[in-house]
Amino acid sequence: MSPVRRLGANSVNTVGSGRSGAIRAQLVRFRDDPFQAGSSALVHEPDGLLVFRDGRITACGPAAALLRELTPDLQLHTYSDCIAMPGFIDAHTHYVQAQIVAASGGPLLDWLERRTYVAEQDFADPLHAKIVAARFCDELIRNGTTTAAVLCAVYPQSVDALFEAATQRDMRVIAGKVLMDRNAPSALLDTAQSSYDESETLIKRWHGKGRNLYAITPRYAGSSTPAQLEAASVLWGQYSQVYMHSHLAENKQEVAWIRELFPDCNDYVDVYDRHGLLGPRALFAHGIYLSEAERDRLADTQTTLVHCPSANLFLGSGLFPLHDNKRRKTPLAVALGTDIGAGTSFSMLKTMADAYKVSRLLGHALSAAEAFYLATLGTARALQLDDRIGSFAPGYEADIVILDPRATPALRLRADRCADVEDLLFSLLIQGDDRAIRASYLHGRRAHVLNEQ
Ligand code: GUN
Ligand code: ZN
Repeated sequence: MSPVRRLGANSVNTVGSGRSGAIRAQLVRFRDDPFQAGSSALVHEPDGLLVFRDGRITACGPAAALLRELTPDLQLHTYSDCIAMPGFIDAHTHYVQAQIVAASGGPLLDWLERRTYVAEQDFADPLHAKIVAARFCDELIRNGTTTAAVLCAVYPQSVDALFEAATQRDMRVIAGKVLMDRNAPSALLDTAQSSYDESETLIKRWHGKGRNLYAITPRYAGSSTPAQLEAASVLWGQYSQVYMHSHLAENKQEVAWIRELFPDCNDYVDVYDRHGLLGPRALFAHGIYLSEAERDRLADTQTTLVHCPSANLFLGSGLFPLHDNKRRKTPLAVALGTDIGAGTSFSMLKTMADAYKVSRLLGHALSAAEAFYLATLGTARALQLDDRIGSFAPGYEADIVILDPRATPALRLRADRCADVEDLLFSLLIQGDDRAIRASYLHGRRAHVLNEQ
């Protein structure tokens, strides 16, 4: 029995509105990339203490050494038998698609037309946007996700609604208005000029305000004219500290169509490259169908691909070659995302399970260390936020998820045979969901807790 389990009855206290406190639990974090370094990249403290003040980590280590340093002003939350790790990061999701999760349809282009473009038109209404944004953020938090890169609708008011909901919860989001000036219903279209102007206004209003970060978001090359891609690039040149967020090579039919739309470009990556849209802090969801030359170009420019396995399975798009991309001579920056609403769950645990199954179909076996790295430090690195989130080092923002490896009868059965923490983590990722998220902390404040006594 682990020392933490022996503590017996759960001693979780009530939610404090403050941003200081301490957590006693098993601690898991990463010192390295397990795709390169293997399991030794995972750091496990069987009976650990995590201390945070004013929303930032101040100490992390063995409870035996740190407990005596706790001062009376710090509320101690003890999570017997649970695992505390840096909060999950979802690097690609659409809040405006929260209501079309599990809406059946065909492949990508058909689903966009029949489901997505219909639902997104509702976000012209600020009240609708406000209600869905609040429920979306709460659902992320209930699933242990503490940072997300989010696509909004074409309407600026849909962006305001999301940043307002995130600000109220002190949650870090990277978000932006989608740019789309062709190949969609007219109610969803902007123009190259209006998309430039509206995005600039939103950058000035939101980027760097509290924990909010802006992403210039041309939806994908299929719904932007060359003039709009050009405008996005000029804007990024002017505000180079913001993100670029789009989609790339998700579906074979889409790739063939992009060739027709941009006959002068060598390939799909070249479309974005020629318009100056690659680089650090550029995030492209999917990237399933890419040549070696395209991958080289993404690696050279430090562009990030976001693996969204549940969406790829739901739409039947294909299998993302995660291990090949991470282990090639010039590895790609890869992050993990749910891609709600093509993605089928808000849960990063379920997203990891789908990533594992996709890896098996490609002849690999995603390890627990690799999966949880991707959901935490790996994605923080790919988003260039690893100086503040994704780890527990002193000074880091106290975004924390508490996982209960015995949250359900099935998890408990498996946990009774688990030999070590990697075994427990693997069971969690395959069998776990929101029921295994015991608590979530945003910037030191406990924002969600299950089964409080
Ligand atoms: N490609 C362009 N838009 C979208 C979208 O909303 N979802 C997905 N999965 N792919 C896209
Ligand atoms: Zn998407």
